[in-house]
Amino acid sequence: MKTQVVIIGAGPSGLLLGQLLHNAGIDNIILERATPDYVLGRIRAGVLEEGIVSMVREAGVAERMDREGLPHGGVQIAFNGEIRRVDFHKHANGKQVVVYGQTEITADLMEARQACGAPIHYKVEKVQIHDPDSDNPLVTYEKDGQQHRIACDYIAGCDGFHGVSRKTIPESLRTEYEKVYPVGWLGFLADTPPIDEELIYGVSDKGFFLCSMRSHTRSRYYVDVSLDEKVEDWSDDRFWEELSSRLPESVRGKLVTGPSLEKSIAPLRSYICEPMQYGRLFLVGDAAHIVPPTGAKGLNLASGDVNYLYRILLKVYKENRPEAIAQYSALCLRRIWHAERFSWWMTNMLHDFGDKFDRKLMDSELDFYTGTDAGLSVIAEQYVGLPYEEVV
Ligand code: APR
Ligand code: PHB
Repeated sequence: MKTQVVIIGAGPSGLLLGQLLHNAGIDNIILERATPDYVLGRIRAGVLEEGIVSMVREAGVAERMDREGLPHGGVQIAFNGEIRRVDFHKHANGKQVVVYGQTEITADLMEARQACGAPIHYKVEKVQIHDPDSDNPLVTYEKDGQQHRIACDYIAGCDGFHGVSRKTIPESLRTEYEKVYPVGWLGFLADTPPIDEELIYGVSDKGFFLCSMRSHTRSRYYVDVSLDEKVEDWSDDRFWEELSSRLPESVRGKLVTGPSLEKSIAPLRSYICEPMQYGRLFLVGDAAHIVPPTGAKGLNLASGDVNYLYRILLKVYKENRPEAIAQYSALCLRRIWHAERFSWWMTNMLHDFGDKFDRKLMDSELDFYTGTDAGLSVIAEQYVGLPYEEVV
């Protein structure tokens, strides 16, 4: 078998890249370890910056997102029992974000892939990348006990944090940067109307909380918990009680409770692998970087990588400029480090990790950044997302 680009992983990164390349007439094959149901079962953040919204439109898969996505012109931050609003119109040049679940984007992209008939293989095993630093890379895998080989020009490693792509880059050539935090987020999804029209991130004496949503009838809430907590110990009642006790009084009465559709605990981590390219192999999305969920940058960063790789591959195939690939890593990493810094900073400003001095700094930062025009612009501009740079 032969193709132009092999894409490993059918999460949002792999599917979005695959669709864009297919529309541009660049042949690609997607290889995914799991089943479609497994991929769609993962619940993740749902705040889309303008960058990904326009990429999904460019891919021709935006019909449902444009119909059902909720545009948000601000975000709210609660502390000391008070709620303050970050107004994007005023503080981020009128930009906005769209609230639309990552699971929904993934479902839309899967459907588009099926409709266009481009190859995608689920339940593949033992994916291996051979000779990515040569002019003739090869990807091998097994499916239903059969061995397969695909010769290709390039490989996009969209296989998430636990994939094979990153590990294919020799250890001596990569540097990993990591920060782990001493808490996790306990998430709760319910078919209840959200507490507010906008997201509310907050700190209380009992800890962090986030009130988010998927639609006007489906809410997503989070509280931070210590890492030894087990999700089985959190009954629905216990979760609602905990969340309610963290909310400012002004909104507590508006909380509508109901049975959970999903509950899970996710650890918080910041991680970056440099470089993101090795010969003809490119790392994309979670394969190269992880952010803590504060600020919802995970998918938005992944789509930044997809944007750069797609535009570089257009240069390669449409303008016959193979040297264009050399700019991939630096272009991606600049944007990634900005978002990593923002996510780390928001995480520190909104979580009490047990240090008395840092706890005081949190209040001071919250007061400054939500109480001055300069501070509000700092949050707003980064929350709505930094623009993509031009690929030359
Ligand atoms: N072979 C084939 N597929 C693999 C392999 C492998 N060895 N290892 C992992 N995969 C698949 C996984 O099953 C998964 O479906 O790669 C896919 C990676 O998808 P994601 O983890 O969703 O990563 P990505 O597409 O980069 O999406 C980034 O996900 O974690 C969030 O915050 C993050 O929102 C961001 C988004
Ligand atoms: C979510 O809706 O799941 C969500 C929203 C914002 C975040 C993280 C998660 O920062």
